[in-house]
Amino acid sequence: MARRISKRKQPEIEVKQLKAVEKISGKVLDEKTISVLVDFINNKVIKSLDYPISTGKEAVVFKATSPSGGKLAVIIFNFETSRFHNMLDYIQGDKRFDHQIHNKRELVNVWARKEFANLKKCFAAGVRVPKPIKYKQNVIVMEFVGENNVATPILAKVRLSDPQGVYEKILGSMKKMFEAKLVHADLSEFNILVLLENNVEQPVFIDLAQAVVLDHPKAKEFLEKDCFNIAKYFSKRGVQTDGKTVYTFVTA
Ligand SMILES: Nc1ncnc2c1ncn2[C@@H]1O[C@H](COP(=O)(O)OP(=O)(O)O)[C@@H](O)[C@H]1O
Ligand SMILES: [Mg+2]
Repeated sequence: MARRISKRKQPEIEVKQLKAVEKISGKVLDEKTISVLVDFINNKVIKSLDYPISTGKEAVVFKATSPSGGKLAVIIFNFETSRFHNMLDYIQGDKRFDHQIHNKRELVNVWARKEFANLKKCFAAGVRVPKPIKYKQNVIVMEFVGENNVATPILAKVRLSDPQGVYEKILGSMKKMFEAKLVHADLSEFNILVLLENNVEQPVFIDLAQAVVLDHPKAKEFLEKDCFNIAKYFSKRGVQTDGKTVYTFVTA
């Protein structure tokens, strides 16, 4: 009898844990989000949410632990603070998703589903992205990119020892994405992590919710912007390049 009671009480303990996380991160998780997280815990997708890595406008990112002790990143998209008009620009015209939206909540859920689908597509195409694990409603679970418990820094925050090598790897990833018929559409030094793998700097693309298929009406415009951002960053760091060179390489 006592056991049954304690078993039934388990979800409450998890909710308490999540409330504690809320306090640390200063972000309010709504009831629906909490129920998704409890569902992930009950279904052994995650064991615990550990600490927040980043709190942006659209999303809060947490480091989490899997039941087998693996490191995960959990992205929670926020219904209240999202910039819906911006988001619509990247959904309307992407035929995978633009029929699915009738209200704000659906929009945020589609945003999460879109990021998950884009991650899967990139991962399958051999683009270095965090391995996608699971998504439900407004929450995505993926590989935590980092060494030990430290999240990998974004390109904007590191001083590269091999700019030319990282540049070439980024162009390779952009080309693979293009061949998989996707454009990142927000590619810059702010959405590329630089992971040290065996002392080699490895760029990892993140933040893929706004990535669109090639037949999106603005795909070319988005790709040109991505190419320009990458060229601008690397030409300041001694790499001979410009936006057109990057664009030509990626689309050739
Ligand atoms: N899989 C991951 N592993 C480690 N850190 C991550 C991961 N995904 C995101 N982050 C961290 O969270 C930050 C925000 O993630 P991002 O997807 O760019 O969301 P947004 O820019 O919309 O807030 C990143 O700059 C990075 O520091
Ligand atoms: Mg970002």
